[in-house]
Amino acid sequence: MLDKVKELDQEIKQFDINTPEQLELFRMKFISRKGVITELFEGLKSVPQADRRTVGQELNGLKNLAQERFETFSQLIDEQRTTANSAPPVDLTLPTIPNLTGTQHPLSLVRQRIIQIFERIGFNVADGPEIESDWYNFGALNFPDNHPARDMQDTFFVEKTSEGASSDMLLRTHTSNVQIRLMERQKPPIRSIMPGRVYRNETISARAHCMFHQVEGIYIDRNVGFKDLKDTLYHFVKEMFEPGTQIRFRPSYFPFTEPSAEIDISCQICGGKGCNICKHSGWVEIAGSGMVDPQVIANCGIDPEEYTGFAFGMGIERITQLKYVVNDLRLYTENDVRFLRQFEGL
Ligand code: DAH
Repeated sequence: MLDKVKELDQEIKQFDINTPEQLELFRMKFISRKGVITELFEGLKSVPQADRRTVGQELNGLKNLAQERFETFSQLIDEQRTTANSAPPVDLTLPTIPNLTGTQHPLSLVRQRIIQIFERIGFNVADGPEIESDWYNFGALNFPDNHPARDMQDTFFVEKTSEGASSDMLLRTHTSNVQIRLMERQKPPIRSIMPGRVYRNETISARAHCMFHQVEGIYIDRNVGFKDLKDTLYHFVKEMFEPGTQIRFRPSYFPFTEPSAEIDISCQICGGKGCNICKHSGWVEIAGSGMVDPQVIANCGIDPEEYTGFAFGMGIERITQLKYVVNDLRLYTENDVRFLRQFEGL
């Protein structure tokens, strides 16, 4: 009997337990009620009385050993199983999970491009308030109080004051207010562009909106002439639009420039042949411009006898429409991802 116990003791210590299957074999052989140890306990009855106590102790030792080993290994195997589950094998052939980081808004793309073009020829970027006084939006730009030119730019008034019309507060109708603020603050040479949001009292439709964006430009220095205005805008059009785009200056009127011109380019959609976008004329207007009126320069405390300059203002929505064929202004603010996703990667 004792020899048998010794033999089993060895066997238990050397039993290979690496897998759940081996653990189960171990359990059946040594732990279960049909196992060898239970069998030996049953044989204890036939051991002579004198030896029974020693043999019983040996048997108990064997039973404990088997139980201990069983517990240690079932814990180990459990651990192996959970770590295997939390780190599944990597399949390098699976397609990647797309990294959806969103896209730049088309108006941001175009604004950035405009800034880049002008920065390269020495313009810096300036900013001004969207809630503005009547003086900066109209008065200083030579719009007299009851002048009809104001009718074209009806807007939202934020505050009527008792100090006279020029201190009424309104949402600016154009970025030209920043021209005035710059000329008041800085000595020439001034060479800046001023992108920003503007507002008008318009019914929202495919062609009009109560909020849109402009980029203003101004260059004030000694001996700045109309030729400089033309060269600058020719350069801009060449950089911004398709090669071969035609440009024309059409005489116009703005209260704050003299002479004034509107700038048209050949239609980017039909190439100048005539379509809905260009109203079958082959040309689309992209900007207003002109030589800054000496009175406006004087309004800002700069001597118009010494300094001259040009200014221009263009609509970012219009340029985006021509570049990306966006024919409904409302698309820019509706946040429809089917529209926005088309600008992915640009
Ligand atoms: N502010 C004008 C508008 O919104 C555009 C404009 C015309 C700006 C001529 C200028 C300019 O700077 O010189 O219609």
